[in-house]
Amino acid sequence: MLLLGIETSCDDTATAVVRDGRAVLANVSTNQDVFHAKFGGIVPEIASRRHLDLLSAAVQDALERARVTLAMLDGIAVTAGPGLVGSLVIGVATAKALAYAAGKPLYAVNHLHGHIFAAFLEGAAEPEYPFLALLVSGGHSQLVHVDSPVRMHVVARTRDDAAGEAFDKTARLLGLPFPGGPAVDRLARDGDPRAYAFPRHRAAGESLDMSFSGIKTAVKYFLETEAGRTASRADIAASFQAAVVDVLIDRLDRAAQRAPYRAAILSGGVAANSALQAAFRTWGESTGIPVLVPELRFCTDNAAMIAAAADRQGASVLADVRTLAADPNLPFVRPVPAPA
Ligand code: KG4
Ligand code: ZN
Repeated sequence: MLLLGIETSCDDTATAVVRDGRAVLANVSTNQDVFHAKFGGIVPEIASRRHLDLLSAAVQDALERARVTLAMLDGIAVTAGPGLVGSLVIGVATAKALAYAAGKPLYAVNHLHGHIFAAFLEGAAEPEYPFLALLVSGGHSQLVHVDSPVRMHVVARTRDDAAGEAFDKTARLLGLPFPGGPAVDRLARDGDPRAYAFPRHRAAGESLDMSFSGIKTAVKYFLETEAGRTASRADIAASFQAAVVDVLIDRLDRAAQRAPYRAAILSGGVAANSALQAAFRTWGESTGIPVLVPELRFCTDNAAMIAAAADRQGASVLADVRTLAADPNLPFVRPVPAPA
């Protein structure tokens, strides 16, 4: 299948052309960071206006780079949710119009499923089922048991901040620019991860849920103390990062003991973190479970992953071009939004 993917759930205006859910013929992404940086976070109204300005050209660009026409496509895949409603609406409306005009099938993809299928793009080996996905982004942190492209369930989630959100908030406490994750990662390279023992959230009973707000709050209080005011920012960043990574790997390890997983994948924006990637690979070596990290450009939000998910989920995510509605709260287990 030759699919056009469209992803506008947050602040990246992304389009892609993907063959058979694997070969990426074009991957276009227009980063909006420059428009949001001065506000220290994403401003939804600005994000949707930028999508409106950029999306038509981004669709054209992806088709040209892939050297295909709309008529050659087998379908159009779009993120239907979850995400910012104003942003999602621009992508969904554009995809419906294109699918209707070209007479092509429309596939409505759950953004989080997209992150999972990023692991199937371009790489040398495809993960085997069942696999465990550690999905860590700015909006979500969860462990997902994946039986097949259409059968999966969440086995652990964060009770408060997403891991990426904790990175972004801690970056702001440290006076680092937005987006905070990459800035903390860079600063932490010069720091000692054992300098400060920020609290790690422990698993309670049978639950594998995690929490990150306590680590961020501990950094905040420490920075207000005498010692904190003069402490090395790099040591604080490295120690914060180590605490987040410890919690994620602890839950991954516990979850992996509950089913015979044949692979584990790491995805979402925080998967770009160097300390997390290193710990994830070390964990894979120690358990013997094959681990897979998508290429960096497929870890953060992109449209190729949306086409990859649609290709594998097929008929189960087929949507009606007349009635598909963006759903900012699209549930994880129901891939296709109900007609409006
Ligand atoms: O998946 P993504 O691009 O968008 C969402 O769906 O949320 O993830 C963005 C998140 C942001 O919180 C950003 O700070 C974080 O990923 N991030 C990182 C790194 N690169 C991006 N966090 C830690 N270390 C990084 N290198
Ligand atoms: Zn995302």
